[in-house]
Amino acid sequence: MFQGQSICSMRSAYIFRRLKLIGIAFLCSLILAPPIQAASLPDQKQCRGLWDQGVAVKPEIEGWCLFIDQKKGNCLACHHVETPGWPATLAPAGNAGPILTDLTKTYPDRDQLRNIIYDASAQFPNSFMPLYGKHLILDQNEINLIVKFLLTL
Ligand code: HEC
Repeated sequence: MFQGQSICSMRSAYIFRRLKLIGIAFLCSLILAPPIQAASLPDQKQCRGLWDQGVAVKPEIEGWCLFIDQKKGNCLACHHVETPGWPATLAPAGNAGPILTDLTKTYPDRDQLRNIIYDASAQFPNSFMPLYGKHLILDQNEINLIVKFLLTL
């Protein structure tokens, strides 16, 4: 009986010590953790994985995937975008076009953005930006998804 009790109290002391350690570890992780950052966006490989597996993602994320994919928008060839979610595995963008940021200020009407992607030459007559809609590089739905992504910038 006596022995049983002592085992029991030894055990609870042990559990208590463990809990204390877990508590200290938890507090340390709170103190040492970097500030909460926006989740990283998927890179091209991860985007293809999502497409292959038919994983449903938010329209903005799908737009981002179309934006960076070399066989779709490949917009990164010319445009950098300011986003805290830039994946570490994604190469830096080209700079032949303007950095795309704060577009709602310049284009409060999302149709303007849609039109630029559809046929940039209508707005910028000597543009060398591909005419994505006019030349059937992207379909209307893909352009809309890219616009959804652009509006998050
Ligand atoms: C070959 C280079 C190139 C590619 C690829 C390209 N663009 Fe552009 N884009 C430009 C250039 C250059 C401009 C500046 C206007 C001009 O002179 O054509 C521009 C302008 C824009 C603008 C207007 C920006 C502003 O500040 O007014 C938007 C929006 C845009 N591009 C979106 C896109 C999207 C979305 C894609 C991909 C689907 C894309 N671009 C792909 C070169 C490119």
